[in-house]
Amino acid sequence: MADIAAADGLLSLKELDLADEEACRVFFGRLDAYDVRMRFASLHFSMALFLPPSCGIAFAAFDTADEIVGVTNLANLGAAAEVALVVRSDRQRRGIGRLLLGQAIRWAGDQGFSHLVGYVLHENRRMRALARTMGFRGVGTEGLLIEIMRPTSRTTRRERLT
Ligand SMILES: CC(C)(COP(=O)(O)OP(=O)(O)OC[C@H]1O[C@@H](n2cnc3c(N)ncnc32)[C@H](O)[C@@H]1OP(=O)(O)O)[C@@H](O)C(=O)NCCC(=O)NCCS
Repeated sequence: MADIAAADGLLSLKELDLADEEACRVFFGRLDAYDVRMRFASLHFSMALFLPPSCGIAFAAFDTADEIVGVTNLANLGAAAEVALVVRSDRQRRGIGRLLLGQAIRWAGDQGFSHLVGYVLHENRRMRALARTMGFRGVGTEGLLIEIMRPTSRTTRRERLT
């Protein structure tokens, strides 16, 4: 657990586990339909895609009321980790997405993954803008989805040495 001063006030970053299921349900209840679709490419949320162990690993930002305001999920794809994230609809555009994606990038590098990849709906301008500012680039399309990728700091360090 790490405390972080964000534009939105003090947040605590914590790895989620099964004990957080109820907090996740409350969080889902605060997502509007558009955000659910952007995150899950579906009209429905999925606890299985959200809460470990079925989904890999998840980090959540909790506010001072101990409510989840955003979650990033990471799944092991071998050399790369797949990242996804969502911020509570009423708490967006206050730096929480950037904070969570930064945590995902750090975690993936620390764990030895060479790259992070993500799949973003083509129409999702917010996530595409956030990803671009954090060093991701589009590397392909799969139907309605764009595949985005960036090396972790581990790759960057290694490339500098060779
Ligand atoms: C995409 C998402 C995670 C961004 O979270 P956020 O907390 O609002 O993002 P931040 O406040 O950290 O913004 C970071 C950057 O993202 C971009 N961005 C975020 N919202 C934006 C918007 N409405 N319009 C344009 N750019 C936007 C900007 O570059 C912004 O930087 P800036 O504020 O300095 O201009 C959030 O909109 C969300 O949860 N969307 C629904 C779920 C989703 O799309 N998930 C991605 C699927 S992998």
